[in-house]
Amino acid sequence: MAPRKKPASPSPSPAPVDSGVTAAVVTSDDDAGLDYALRPKTLDEYIGQDDERENLKVFVAAARKRNRPLDHVLISGPPGLGKTTLAMILAHELGVQAHTTSGPAIEHKGALAGMLTRLEARDVLFIDEIHRLTPIVEENLYPAMEDFKIDLVTGDGAHASSIPLNLNPFTLVGATTRTGLLTGPLQSRFGIIMRLDFYTAEQLCLIVRRSARLLGTAIAPEAAMEIARRARGTPRIANRLLRRAWDFAEVADLPEIDLATARKALNRMGVDHRGLDEMDRRLLRILMDFYDGGPTGIETLAAAMAEPRDTLEDVHEPFLLREGLLARTPRGRVATRRAYEHLGVEPPTAAGAPQGTLFE
Ligand code: ADE
Repeated sequence: MAPRKKPASPSPSPAPVDSGVTAAVVTSDDDAGLDYALRPKTLDEYIGQDDERENLKVFVAAARKRNRPLDHVLISGPPGLGKTTLAMILAHELGVQAHTTSGPAIEHKGALAGMLTRLEARDVLFIDEIHRLTPIVEENLYPAMEDFKIDLVTGDGAHASSIPLNLNPFTLVGATTRTGLLTGPLQSRFGIIMRLDFYTAEQLCLIVRRSARLLGTAIAPEAAMEIARRARGTPRIANRLLRRAWDFAEVADLPEIDLATARKALNRMGVDHRGLDEMDRRLLRILMDFYDGGPTGIETLAAAMAEPRDTLEDVHEPFLLREGLLARTPRGRVATRRAYEHLGVEPPTAAGAPQGTLFE
């Protein structure tokens, strides 16, 4: 392959401030570093989620005009759709620092207080997996969100006393895979609630072409579209598949990533023409082979796959449901006729099918 052009944007913007509670976003792993460098830094660079993006532009402009913090923002959606990216963009657009942490990393209210008291006026505090806060930490977050106040508790038992403390006004950006996982009181304290949707193949194609430009590699338009179509509506997956196709093109000394090379890389990575990966297919096969296509409870399915239930619910199900390959019924998950067709498996006959399946 011709020598790599210098990436158009070699130096990513400064990484968000690490609050000391979690690892910084950029790690020493090269792929993760590249992923970070490919993320858009402004709302204008951001592709997709058009309505949400345009609304955010207005909310940010209004907050800046008033010299007030942006109202608290809750972002929900399956992994890889850009929740963290949007939080970093918000801080950038507001001209403030982003501090990042996650629900499980805030182990006690002292850790929360430590983070909140470090925030400068109008800073963004990003809490990923906010549904995983402990109840005590969550309760302590309420006055901080509502009145920018916390109670610092000193001493123990009978000697304990609490000191009210004013915080700098800040914006909390919370991310979660599903809003339904949040308690009502926490959800009601967010002024801006955004749901991220899967991206269209056309939007992902634009993202792949932009990323290729930033990586300094040429890509044929059909190759970009092939990657986009097979990226299960998810920019993070599209960028990962692009980097692997780039590897194949590099080793073959090609001047660009062409369609044949993109297809080869995708096939070698076990991504089929619909975008299903090994795990998606395994989930459907287990449903078909062990449970006659379902209905099967999610716990049973998770045990059979030896995978955490959350991974199935957050990562695999949303895509399979959207593709019409899986159905959710009150009695459990069911493999649809389309899933049988996709995997080339003979569906159970109506007579042989157990009660409650789609094939009755
Ligand atoms: N890279 C990852 N997600 C992106 C997006 N939504 N827009 C542009 N580039 C991206």
